[in-house]
Amino acid sequence: MIPGIEEIRLFLEKLGFDRGSINELIEQIEYFETEAPERDDIVRNYLRDECIERMIDEIVREVLRLGRKEVRLLDVAAGSGFFTERIKKRLEEMGVRTEVYALDITPSMLRRLKEKGITPIWGVAERIGDSIRIANKHYGLSVPEKFDVVVSTLAFHHFINPEGVLRSIRGVLEDGGRVVIIDVLKHSHGEFKDTLKDTHLGFSLEEIKEMGSRVFGKVEARPLGLHCEVDGVLIGLYKAVFA
Ligand SMILES: C[S@@+](CC[C@H](N)C(=O)[O-])C[C@H]1O[C@@H](n2cnc3c(N)ncnc32)[C@H](O)[C@@H]1O
Repeated sequence: MIPGIEEIRLFLEKLGFDRGSINELIEQIEYFETEAPERDDIVRNYLRDECIERMIDEIVREVLRLGRKEVRLLDVAAGSGFFTERIKKRLEEMGVRTEVYALDITPSMLRRLKEKGITPIWGVAERIGDSIRIANKHYGLSVPEKFDVVVSTLAFHHFINPEGVLRSIRGVLEDGGRVVIIDVLKHSHGEFKDTLKDTHLGFSLEEIKEMGSRVFGKVEARPLGLHCEVDGVLIGLYKAVFA
């Protein structure tokens, strides 16, 4: 269920990625393999407890707006599942039965998710539906291909093709479903491309709204008034909601 690097290369070829993109994705995986054992602590260091709680509140509030008693939720680029497990717990406390799946490209992150009792799915955010179909076929799984809610935290700036990720999310979203993304606002700290393997230096609200409106009918984006602190630098966070 959790592939090794050779299997991942095979899956990436099956997904139609060219050699250059495969190498870029493998570099991301190698970086995040080293982060996986400490990812929970890294999140706690980046964000104070009250910021973490606020992020969870914001996501849970959007899910509750759907008005459903049961939801099937996918966390895209879920990492170690720090937010995934807290979102599920909070929703269950609010009386919403929550079936949770977590997709990530990095095997060690998937292992952390499994240890936490969250169903891990190996996959590429730019190709969620196809990744699920490949994993289902290869491992004889029956992971669903549609979700009521898709969330993603602190990951959007890592994606090589962010608009492609939004299209891929739309492809697995149930009719009437909702997407909630929380990530870093645009900043000028180019050093994070090396130190944190960031692909983009965040996005402005205008960029997110523009990108979102090319893919979704309803688009909202606003700053959260919260910050991540990385190496003494404060970076603002935004929330974007698409439907
Ligand atoms: C900064 S971590 C965020 C993890 C988690 N969402 C959190 O808030 O702690 C970024 C995650 O994105 C994953 N990732 C990066 N590019 C990806 C892609 N194209 N498809 C799927 N996962 C990807 C990495 O493996 C890593 O676990």
